[in-house]
Amino acid sequence: MWSLFSGRSEDTYRLWRLPSFHITEVARPSMDSVEQHDAFFNSFNLVRGPCLGSGAVGEVVLASAKHNSSLKVAVKIVTFETEGCKGDFLSEVGFLRDLRHPRILKMIAFAMDDHHGFMLSTYFKNGTLRDTMSSDHPVEEPRILRHILDVASALQYIHGLHIFHQDVKPRNVLLDDQDRAILADFGIARQASDSSAMVMKWRTTPGYSGPETRKRRPMSPFKLDMYSLGVSMWMLIYRQRSVGIKDLLAFSDQCKDVKEPYRRILRQLLRKDPNKRWSAADLLRFCVWNSLCAPSLMSSH
Ligand SMILES: Nc1ncnc2c1ncn2[C@@H]1O[C@H](COP(=O)(O)OP(=O)(O)OP(=O)(O)O)[C@@H](O)[C@H]1O
Ligand SMILES: [Mg+2]
Repeated sequence: MWSLFSGRSEDTYRLWRLPSFHITEVARPSMDSVEQHDAFFNSFNLVRGPCLGSGAVGEVVLASAKHNSSLKVAVKIVTFETEGCKGDFLSEVGFLRDLRHPRILKMIAFAMDDHHGFMLSTYFKNGTLRDTMSSDHPVEEPRILRHILDVASALQYIHGLHIFHQDVKPRNVLLDDQDRAILADFGIARQASDSSAMVMKWRTTPGYSGPETRKRRPMSPFKLDMYSLGVSMWMLIYRQRSVGIKDLLAFSDQCKDVKEPYRRILRQLLRKDPNKRWSAADLLRFCVWNSLCAPSLMSSH
């Protein structure tokens, strides 16, 4: 049985509602998975394009409107291999339906059957922050900081709602036409009861976990997100993967000389003691005071 949801906000809806887009005409396929995908694209009047990226439980493909190929959307296709995959998909679309922030990916619509979930979102042709690491020209620190602060602004907003992302990394940050960063992939994000809530488990990608995850004690998920943000900044500056490096700061001391204030920011985000590690608000406040970003980047939450 298919079910369908479309974005509630009128402006979001208008952004993608193509003249030929009939979102109420949804097929009921009972075929194998490729045909089910085709049925989905047909019922949305979309032509399936190339793969933009793939993850553990699915892929993201580019799609264009049948009658106007210049209108494009990204479609995340998740295969429900386990109940957990389905739960993560429902959780992601649940968050993206409700979150409203300029630095967070806008979901356009989602559809699902018993075996797959399909999520439509704005297509970002400039790819992700991870792609900037492999470009021939190293990205300068001020531009890296701008991207990191965009993500911090998104984190400040979700942390204010007691939501933690749990998978902050350059591959999950898209770049828009103005070279602003957009936080995506809420597949393993979760909501805590309050701002002092603790977790015992942390599911992030290897190489992005704070040192406290090795101690089997309750941990602040919000501070763990900030550690992952620090690792992301470190990777973008050093153009290195963090996996297998025990002490990122000690490693940095032996290579590229990073100037202040970037060095200080890295140190504060990668602090081993989560109580001393900066929150998103601390980072933004520091950057506003030091004229490294506009006050408008700080959300009211
Ligand atoms: N809206 C989009 N526009 C352009 N590319 C996108 C978009 N959404 C996702 N991608 C690409 O697809 C990749 C995978 O997307 P996403 O992280 O949402 O899926 P995932 O299956 O959860 O991935 P993973 O398991 O690797 O975290 C991204 O890293 C990016 O390269
Ligand atoms: Mg991802």
